[in-house]
Amino acid sequence: MPMEKTAIRVRGLEKSYGTLEVLRGVDFDVEPGSIFALLGSNGAGKTTVVKILSTLLKADAGTASVNDFDVATQAENVRESISLTGQFAAVDEILTGRENLVLVARLRHLEDPGAIADDLLRRFSLTDAATRRVSTYSGGMRRRLDIAMSLIGNSPVIFLDEPTAGLDPEARIEVWHTVKELAGDGTTVLLTTQYLDEAEQLADRIAILHEGRIIVNGTLAELKQLLPPANVEYVEKQPTLEEIFLAVIGTNTRKQG
Ligand SMILES: Nc1ncnc2c1ncn2[C@@H]1O[C@H](COP(=O)(O)OP(=O)(O)O)[C@@H](O)[C@H]1O
Ligand SMILES: [Mg+2]
Repeated sequence: MPMEKTAIRVRGLEKSYGTLEVLRGVDFDVEPGSIFALLGSNGAGKTTVVKILSTLLKADAGTASVNDFDVATQAENVRESISLTGQFAAVDEILTGRENLVLVARLRHLEDPGAIADDLLRRFSLTDAATRRVSTYSGGMRRRLDIAMSLIGNSPVIFLDEPTAGLDPEARIEVWHTVKELAGDGTTVLLTTQYLDEAEQLADRIAILHEGRIIVNGTLAELKQLLPPANVEYVEKQPTLEEIFLAVIGTNTRKQG
């Protein structure tokens, strides 16, 4: 049987912290060049999944591969295939935006770090702020710089753990735009979010992580079929992702017209 091409494959993943069972058998696949949103409430285990996939944490059971490399036995290959933007920006405050980018390009032994930095500054609309210390940047600018840093080296798979947490609406839209561009260029993006509109805006597929398992996985259109449209004053109203989310995790607060 031919192997189906996947960028990320997760099977039966389990992880406990002490007696707390966070992941109880997580399964999903992500196709190359797509945006996959792992959606879940605070504490659902999203960061735990990302840490396992990026080889920062070992699973208790199950298997996972990234770019066809096994996270447990081919960790080095996995690390060369990915970039990770954590929940909390990892930029150096003392350095300027440009210096941060040049530093990462140097660390990755790339040719012409200055040109790489300037190109990314342009793409992320940070050229005007390039020579300012990061300590003077807004939250949105920092996050953009953080994502820009994670793009150095053109990894085929990128993990964005809550990329827009704490950003104002304008900055969120800028980050969304960037993420869409990335996937448009063929990069596979796995992002975690607790924002339903973020998943709705960005993702080709959405998986809901709840009580240690993926309880729903599909396109937005497929998820919408889980709930029939409600009839409100003769106007058909499509369910929002929020209504679907609440319904599938068992807190159905949807008002029936
Ligand atoms: N190192 C750890 N030790 C103990 N508990 C942890 C640790 N890391 C995470 N947890 C707990 O595991 C659960 C899942 O955490 P996490 O994966 O960070 O969730 P999410 O990213 O979805 O908010 C939470 O209840 C969290 O408190
Ligand atoms: Mg998290």
